[in-house]
Amino acid sequence: MKPFLIKNKFIPKGKITPSGDKSIAHRALILSALSCGKTILRNFPIHDDSLATLGALSVLGIKIVRKDKQVLVFGKGRFGLTKPRKLIFAGDSGTTLRLLLGVLAGQNFRTKVTAGKYLSIRPMARVNRPLRLMGAKITSKIKGNDEYAPIVISGGNLRGITYRLPVISAQVKSAILLAGLFAQGKTHLIEKISTRDHTERMLRIFGADVVIKNKSIILNPDKDLVGPPEIYIPGDISSAAFFIVLAVIIPGAKVIIEKVGTNPTRSGIIRILRRMGARIKTTHPKDNKSQVFEPTGDLMVSASKLKATVVYPYEVPSLIDELPILMVAACFAQGRTIIKGVGELRVKETDRINSMVRNLESMGADIQVKKINSRENIIIKGKDRLCGANLKSFGDHRTAMSMVIAALAAKGESKIDDISCISKSFPRFLTVLYGLSRS
Ligand code: S3P
Repeated sequence: MKPFLIKNKFIPKGKITPSGDKSIAHRALILSALSCGKTILRNFPIHDDSLATLGALSVLGIKIVRKDKQVLVFGKGRFGLTKPRKLIFAGDSGTTLRLLLGVLAGQNFRTKVTAGKYLSIRPMARVNRPLRLMGAKITSKIKGNDEYAPIVISGGNLRGITYRLPVISAQVKSAILLAGLFAQGKTHLIEKISTRDHTERMLRIFGADVVIKNKSIILNPDKDLVGPPEIYIPGDISSAAFFIVLAVIIPGAKVIIEKVGTNPTRSGIIRILRRMGARIKTTHPKDNKSQVFEPTGDLMVSASKLKATVVYPYEVPSLIDELPILMVAACFAQGRTIIKGVGELRVKETDRINSMVRNLESMGADIQVKKINSRENIIIKGKDRLCGANLKSFGDHRTAMSMVIAALAAKGESKIDDISCISKSFPRFLTVLYGLSRS
């Protein structure tokens, strides 16, 4: 792979429509597969991660037909999955692996799931432990205090549990809820801090009995899942975030981003950027029934003067994947931005604290990591400019795209070693970006 050169600067102007939300797409595929009947998923995003879930469900006997941005899933009901003839490969998709483990915990056959180079070093005990409490039998690679893929799992005869989630993670919560669909009795989860609620919303769309009170979620698995004939997947806020920040930090920019998911448990990036002074106007379609399923809106973003802010740990889950691009925005804000409680970034596709600090430092940013009472905080003192540099993606899609945006706003040219990893979540990223240079 040749290094990617960022040399020609432009003022971003125009309108974009990001493809469907990755997190919602995984859940839509899985629940459609477990439901009785056919479901059409519209605005379905095609990338490495969504294809990993699609491939896994196919290996488990689900027929899925793909046509452009539409996917047709032939659900076989909760007990319709079949024993796979080969192992399942989750690629580097953490959501695929963790959510699938929840589903496989409910099957009375044995499945082996393997993972790619990056996912194989991400922690899995956080999912395996509660699933074992529910009755699943799981063996995995053990290293130190944690567990890693490949994982062999067999299940069936699960029991519902009451579980206080020790890790703040929507993937873990979702895996347990999915396993709860196959359990005897209710599953009751208590979160310390609320995380994205796409699974709970999607379960309800499929008619499941889910009761949510503050940070407590109770699933009663008595009902079969029956979905609507079609589901529209709103645009991915995590992909939109790169363009929101691009439009905010480049003087003269103005970008409209259409049909983006604005679920409050997920759209912390909009709230925090607004608090920093970003001009982001949201309009919600009035008569759209899908707003109940997942709120969606159009965003109009204009270049803005940013001021620093403090991001608190309770806010972090609502923008966990957007922290790298928020760090870029903070480099252009006046004053000291502090982002508190970012430790989970160490176990993403790569250690994103390391990848972002090293890259931004090489562009001349004033960025530090401070550990206070075992909590990691990032402190960024904004400057007028960053300078072009030789940058590295570390094989991580969100680091790569964040650095392309930082490089476009910096003085001079930059090079990024390898940005092929963007195919994980946003293969059209460069096409969409170049589209904004032509208006
Ligand atoms: C996701 C949850 C988050 C996020 C990931 C997608 C999901 O992970 O970082 O990209 O779809 O549930 P954690 O659950 O590990 O926080």
